Amino acid sequence: MKNMLVTGGCGFIGSNFIRYLLRESNFSGNIINVDKLTYAGNPENLSDLENEFQDRYTFLKADLCDPDKIAQIFDRYSIDTICHFAAESHVDRSIVEPDAFIQSNIIGTFNLLECCRKNRDQIELFHHVSTDEVFGSLGKDGLFTETTPYSPNNPYSASKAASDHMVRAYHKTYGLPVTISNCSNNYGPYQFPEKLLPLMILNGLEEKALPVYGDGKNVRDWLYVRDHCSAVWLIMRKGKRGDTYNIGGNNEIENIKIVEMICDILDEIRKLEGIKSRKELIAFVKDRPGHDKRYAIDFSKLRHELDWMPEESFASGLRRTIEWYLDNTSWVNRVKSGEYQSWVESHYR
Ligand code: NAD
Ligand code: DAU
Repeated sequence: MKNMLVTGGCGFIGSNFIRYLLRESNFSGNIINVDKLTYAGNPENLSDLENEFQDRYTFLKADLCDPDKIAQIFDRYSIDTICHFAAESHVDRSIVEPDAFIQSNIIGTFNLLECCRKNRDQIELFHHVSTDEVFGSLGKDGLFTETTPYSPNNPYSASKAASDHMVRAYHKTYGLPVTISNCSNNYGPYQFPEKLLPLMILNGLEEKALPVYGDGKNVRDWLYVRDHCSAVWLIMRKGKRGDTYNIGGNNEIENIKIVEMICDILDEIRKLEGIKSRKELIAFVKDRPGHDKRYAIDFSKLRHELDWMPEESFASGLRRTIEWYLDNTSWVNRVKSGEYQSWVESHYR
């Protein structure tokens, strides 16, 4: 693995992954980060690394839906490894405007796979980053395993399911060396404040309403983003080609419990004005259409085959995350005001 194309490296998990590769892993090759810079892509997420690793790190603004441009990048940088994060990732947006999800998640993945097929001899690995949402919703019991049938319930998860199938098909049909990972809900630094945790943290700080969908009893299995990154890198190095690995945190929590935990931590570190507890800000709102009730991951394959375990507990990870948002007010303000997007527009004309 000499020249790794990381797609979506300016987003939440992609930027954490590049930081992990450059700062913490044994990867010694080059990273070419290709990102379209949608509202969710922010080059500032990696600004601290750009100078430090300028000999090994390159950022290119490009859309995976532009096959000619992607082909040029493969040629110019002699790409031999791909770690594919780029996607439209927010379920609520996919319900309102599914089109971009079909384009980026399905067509974008297809274009990348085609580039790999055309450069088959030089490709060592295509790693596809996917989600547990492809399996649909669980009842009270049971866990998603790698053999759980796909049953996606919203346009986002359906588009990710389609991309997973295409990756698998390129392995079976063309012998492309691939690995796929299906991960549960991530949280941590640099997450765009439309997702549950950062939204609640930032609204809580400003003493704004905390909108909880439905009865708040939906369950997600939370994983600190660095643990996701370590798992992806391990699968890339040691995972069986053609195989899928589930990644999870053993950490099922109801949404309402998370919001209450956030309120308690914020109350402890930031004094309130006017109300006794931020829990008074919780507002139960209309449910998300097709809202999956429960996700929970069985990651025993990853644990037994590759000896992986998550390192961060939810209690410590949540506190770290809240502290990160408190310590990075300039990032928060630029993202919330949209200032980062004006900068992107003027910088990458
Ligand atoms: P994100 O929305 O924060 O980042 C996505 C990045 O992809 C952005 O930088 C965006 O600009 C880029 N992108 C989108 N369309 C593109 C295109 N057509 N061409 C090039 N770049 C494009 O998402 P995230 O939360 O970091 O998720 C990354 C990946 O991990 C996604 O594939 C997602 O399905 C998967 N995943 C996310 C989670 C989670 O909890 N966030 C959990 C499991 C899997
Ligand atoms: O499971 C993995 C998936 O996790 C990823 O594939 C997706 O990219 C990622 O966005 C995430 O999807 P969710 O829909 O689970 O995440 P979100 O943060 O949007 O919502 C988490 C839960 O909180 C969900 O049950 C909906 C609820 N929620 C969310 C928001 C934004 C609320 O109750 N209120 C809110 O305002």
